[in-house]
Amino acid sequence: MSKITVFGAGNVGGAVTRRLIERKLCKKVVLVDRNPGKSEGIALDILEASPVDLLEPVCVSGDDLEQSRNSEIVIITAGARRKEGMTRDDLLKINADIVRDCVSRAAQYSPYAFYIIVSNPLNVMCHVAMRAGQIPRTRVTGMAGILDACRFQYFISKELNVSVENVQAMVLGEHGEDMIPVPRYSTVAGVPVTELMPQEKLDELIARTRDGGAEIIRLMQTSAFYAPASAVIQMVAAVVMDKKKILPCAAYLNGEYGITGAFVGVPVKLGANGVEEVREIELTDQERQALVKSAEKIKTQLALIGEAC
Ligand code: 2OP
Repeated sequence: MSKITVFGAGNVGGAVTRRLIERKLCKKVVLVDRNPGKSEGIALDILEASPVDLLEPVCVSGDDLEQSRNSEIVIITAGARRKEGMTRDDLLKINADIVRDCVSRAAQYSPYAFYIIVSNPLNVMCHVAMRAGQIPRTRVTGMAGILDACRFQYFISKELNVSVENVQAMVLGEHGEDMIPVPRYSTVAGVPVTELMPQEKLDELIARTRDGGAEIIRLMQTSAFYAPASAVIQMVAAVVMDKKKILPCAAYLNGEYGITGAFVGVPVKLGANGVEEVREIELTDQERQALVKSAEKIKTQLALIGEAC
């Protein structure tokens, strides 16, 4: 993997850039921002740490997309951030314009890249990106389910006082208030979490997971960035190392789960060819209905910004 371009020199974009270099997941990171000073500043700050962190001087930046030409992966973090009291949906129009601009420009220089969308509202922004770049659905996905699942896993591990390494969790649907944590498919050392705590406690952890992004904003008056960045890095590593790793990501559904025409958080197999498979797992009627409801909400948001499904 020679080059990865990150759009958006904000907290998430900066954290992703630093992690890409630390993990040596590519030979060059190009950090792009409409305010070139921001990307130059973050790049310089990262590189000035290299004598201590022994980082390869690979981070370049600016708003010059020529440097991004033929990137294998493009990560879109650009967009307005939520403020306290806002929902991700409040960012719909402004971020649709930003993502459309970023991806339509990026696709001119990197028409064969794999696109990872982070900007919110995530599921809609994936759709905007796919259309703006005319990208096949195998080469565009959204980072959300991993972040939500990480939060759910962390809360479970704290509640049960076990290592977070023993916890697996699944979260489907939209990256929003109607996300669908799935306790049935969440385990601690292989044991379903439904057997390890009472339902009311589980409901509490599910509610905290749904509120995870807003909780961070209430505490620090800006959106999370370390955990989102880690989730992005897990997706990049799966592609770069052709891991064929099954991860909860936003994928464009074309009939899977009875849904067509929306990016919904589902288990996908990520590998060198991008979204190599949308995994259809058994869902209860209630879970399936919740997934369909998620998709309908996403399509309603798409209609608000004039995006066809
Ligand atoms: C979050 O959930 C920013 O949407 C992101 O923290």
